[in-house]
Amino acid sequence: MSGIVGYVGKRSSQQILIDCLMHLEYRGYDSAGLAISNGNEIEMRKEKGRIQDLEASIQLDPILKGTLGIGHTRWASHGTPSALNSHPLTDNKENYYVVHNGIIENYRQLRKVLITEGYTFLTDTDTEVIPHLLAKYDTGDLKETVRRVLPMLQGSFALAIMSKTQPDTIIGISQENPLILGYGDGEAFLSSDISALLSYTKEIYPIKNNEIAVLTPTTITIQTIGGESVTPVKSLIEWDEEEITLQEHDFFMLKEITEQPKAIKQTLAGRLTASSVSIPELDTFFEQFQMESFRKVDIVASGTSYHSGMIGKKIIEQMLSIPVEVSISSEFSFEHGLLDDQTLVIVLSQSGETADTLSALKEAKAHGAKTIAITNKKRSNIARKADCMICTNAGPELAVPATKAYTCQMTALILLAIALSEKVSGPGNKMTPDMLEALKELPNEVEKCLIMTQDAIDKFAQVTDDQDHLFLIGRGLDYVLALEGALKLQEVAYLHADAYAAGEIKHGTMALFTPGIPVIALATQAHLREKTISNIREIKARDAYVVGITTIGDESVAEVVDEVLYIPEAHAFFMPILAAIPLQLLAYYAGTVRGYNVDRPRNLAKSLTVE
Ligand code: F6R
Repeated sequence: MSGIVGYVGKRSSQQILIDCLMHLEYRGYDSAGLAISNGNEIEMRKEKGRIQDLEASIQLDPILKGTLGIGHTRWASHGTPSALNSHPLTDNKENYYVVHNGIIENYRQLRKVLITEGYTFLTDTDTEVIPHLLAKYDTGDLKETVRRVLPMLQGSFALAIMSKTQPDTIIGISQENPLILGYGDGEAFLSSDISALLSYTKEIYPIKNNEIAVLTPTTITIQTIGGESVTPVKSLIEWDEEEITLQEHDFFMLKEITEQPKAIKQTLAGRLTASSVSIPELDTFFEQFQMESFRKVDIVASGTSYHSGMIGKKIIEQMLSIPVEVSISSEFSFEHGLLDDQTLVIVLSQSGETADTLSALKEAKAHGAKTIAITNKKRSNIARKADCMICTNAGPELAVPATKAYTCQMTALILLAIALSEKVSGPGNKMTPDMLEALKELPNEVEKCLIMTQDAIDKFAQVTDDQDHLFLIGRGLDYVLALEGALKLQEVAYLHADAYAAGEIKHGTMALFTPGIPVIALATQAHLREKTISNIREIKARDAYVVGITTIGDESVAEVVDEVLYIPEAHAFFMPILAAIPLQLLAYYAGTVRGYNVDRPRNLAKSLTVE
C-alpha cells in the first residue's frame, strides 16, 4: 500500500512531486523517494521516514533539476521500511526506475528465475522484479518494453516507470489499483488519488486495466496493451482545495470529526422525499433485478466499515425481515455461507480500493450474487465493479482513522434499508415515517453532540493519560458501537481498548477489572438501559471508574457511574451515529495528549490495496 505520483510539464518537477506526495501520505508513510529527469539524465533520491525527511535531504543536498519525475510514499508490505526498500526501484544498470502501489503476487517465482540468470537483487520488495524484467526484455523503446513485461506480472498494481534511455517519457499503468491521469495546461500528472491533484488540475481520467498511458512533454497518449489507441473520457473532480487542507485545524482527524454534520447533509442531499427516499442508482439496479428474488443479504467490509456494516445488519433485518449476514472481507473471500444469484451482497468501503473488500466483491459476483457498493469514492475500483454504487459524498477523508466515513456509511445504510423495504413490501413500512423524521434532524443532532461532549471528553482523555487499558461495554447497537470505539482508541491512542457486550463481562473478563480501571458504558438504547445499568453496578462493585454515555433526560445512568455524558435522544437506529461522536473525540484527545500524530498512526495506512 503506497501512493505514487508522476509529473511532466514545463515547471520544475521536484516541488510538485513533493507536494503531491504530501497529499498521498495517508496511503503510507514509512519511506519516500523521487526520480527526476532533465530530459537527458535521471537522478533518484530515497529516504526512510516521512516526506518531510525526503524534502530535508534534498534541501541539504539538491537533486537534479528537471521537468519530469516520479515519486512514491510507502507503506511497507514486503521488506522493512528502509531507504533501500523504498521506491523508486531500479535494475542493476540503473536504467529503469519504477514506483509501485499494490502487490506482484508471482514475484517469488520471477525473482528465482532472474537470480539464476545473474540479476542481483538488492531489496526484499516484490517490486524489484519489475525493473529487472524491464532490463531483461529491453526493446530499446520504453512503451514496447513495458508491453512485453506486463503480461508476466500477476497481482494488482499501479506503476509509474521512467528510463535513462528515454528520459523524456513516463509510463503509467493501472491494474486493479488506482492511477489517475490529471490534465493541466501544458503539463500532466499521475497520482494514486485525486486529492493530490486538486492544487493543479480538476480534469482527470482514471487509467483502466490493460491501458498504458505514455506521458512526454508534448503528448499524452493512451493505448490498450494490445496497441489500440484509447480516447480518454475525462471528468472533473468535484472536491475543492479547502477540503484537502487543514484550514484552522492541527489534524485532519479533528477537522473530519467536526465536518460530520456537513458530511451527513451531503449523504442525504437529494435523497429524502416527503414520504420516502430517492436513490436513482437503486432504481436502475432494480430495473435489472427483482428484490423479491433475494433470499438473503450479505454485508461485507473491513475495519471501521465492517462496524458500520454490523449496525446496517440490525437495521436491514428489522426493516425487511430478511436474514442478513455480516462478514469481514478478508474472511468472506475464502469462506462464506450460501452465495448465489438470490443473494444481495452489500460491500462497504470508504476508499473503494480495499483489496480484501474488492476480492470479496469479486467472489460474490463469481457466484452470481447481485452487488451494491456503498463507498466515498465514486471512481474507485469497487464502485466500478459493483452492480450498483451509492456514494456517501462525505468529501475527502484524509486522516487514517475513519470518522466521517463511518457515520456517513451508517446514514447511507439507513437510506438503503428504507429503499429496500419498499422494494420488498411496497410503501408504508411502519418504521419509515419515524426514520425519515430522524434523518432530517440528523445533521443538527450530530452538531449538538459535538457541542455537548467535546470539552468533557477532552478532560476525560487528560485524566486517563496514564492508563494502558480501557474497556467499553454496551448492549445491542451500543455493543457494536463499543467495538468501533475500541478500534479507534487502539489505532489512534495505542491504548489497549476492548469492547464487550455488557452482559458478557461476568463470564470471564471481570477478572481483569482492578480498582480505577476506566470503563465507558454506552447506555443509549432506551429498551436495554436497565439491563446495562445492572452490569454497570457489577463493574462498580469492583471499583472500576465508569463513564456512562446516555441520552438527555435519562437520570438512571448518572446514579451508578462516576461521570456521565449526555447526548441528544433519537430513534434507536440513529444512536450509534450520535454516540460515535464522543468516542471519536475520545480517541482524538487520548492520542494527542499522549503526543501521537493521530492522522498517521504507526504501522498503518489508509486504502489498503494489498490482501
Ligand atoms: C479505521 C479504519 C480502517 C478502515 C478499513 C477499511 O479507522 O479506517 O479500519 O475502515 O481499512 O477501509 P475502507 O472503508 O476504505 O474499505
